Amino acid sequence: MIVTPLRVALLLCLASATLALAHEGATGVVKERMDLMETQKDAMKLIGDMAKGNTPFDAAKAAEAARDISLTAKKIPELFPEGSGGDKSEALPAVWEKWDRFTANADDLEGAADALSSALDGSANQDWKPAFQKVSDVCKSCHQDFRAKKKDHAKH
Ligand code: HEC
Repeated sequence: MIVTPLRVALLLCLASATLALAHEGATGVVKERMDLMETQKDAMKLIGDMAKGNTPFDAAKAAEAARDISLTAKKIPELFPEGSGGDKSEALPAVWEKWDRFTANADDLEGAADALSSALDGSANQDWKPAFQKVSDVCKSCHQDFRAKKKDHAKH
C-alpha cells in the first residue's frame, strides 16, 4: 500500500480541524491539497524509480500507485474551493478564472492514471512507460497553467 486512504483521510481531518480553529477553513483546505499532491508525487517517484531501473520493477506495486493517483485526482476539484488562493497557496487565480479547464486537467489526470494502471496490470514488459510519461505530462501541464513558480519553494 502506498497510501492508506482511511488513515490519510483521518490525518487530514485532524489537521484541518486544528487549523480551522486557528485560521478558519482556507488554511485547512490548502494544506489538504498540498498533502494530496505530495502523495501523488510519492506515487510518481515510486513508479519513476522503477521506470529508470533504480528499483526492481514490481507491476502490482506500480499499478497500485497508479490507482492511488487516479483516486486522488478525483478529489482535486473539491480541494480548490473559490477564494482559497493567496497566502501560502501557490494556486494561481487562473484556477478559478478557467475552472472548466482546471477540472478538465484533473479529469485528464484520472484518465491517464487509469490507463497507466491498466497498462501495468499483469505486464512484465516495457509497454507501460509511455503511459507513465503521459501521467507525468499531465502533472506538468496543469502546474504550468495553474501553479505559481516560486523560487523560494525549495523543499516540497
Ligand atoms: C488539475 C491541476 C493539477 C494536476 C493535474 C496536478 N497538480 Fe500538482 N498542483 C496543482 C496546483 C494548483 C498546486 C498548488 C496548490 C497550492 O499551493 O494551493 C499543485 C501543487 C503540487 C505540489 C506541491 C505541494 C506542496 O506541498 O506545496 C506537488 C508536489 C504536486 N502538485 C505534484 C503533482 C503531481 C506529482 C501530479 C501528477 C500526478 C500533479 N501534481 C497533478 C495543480 C495540479
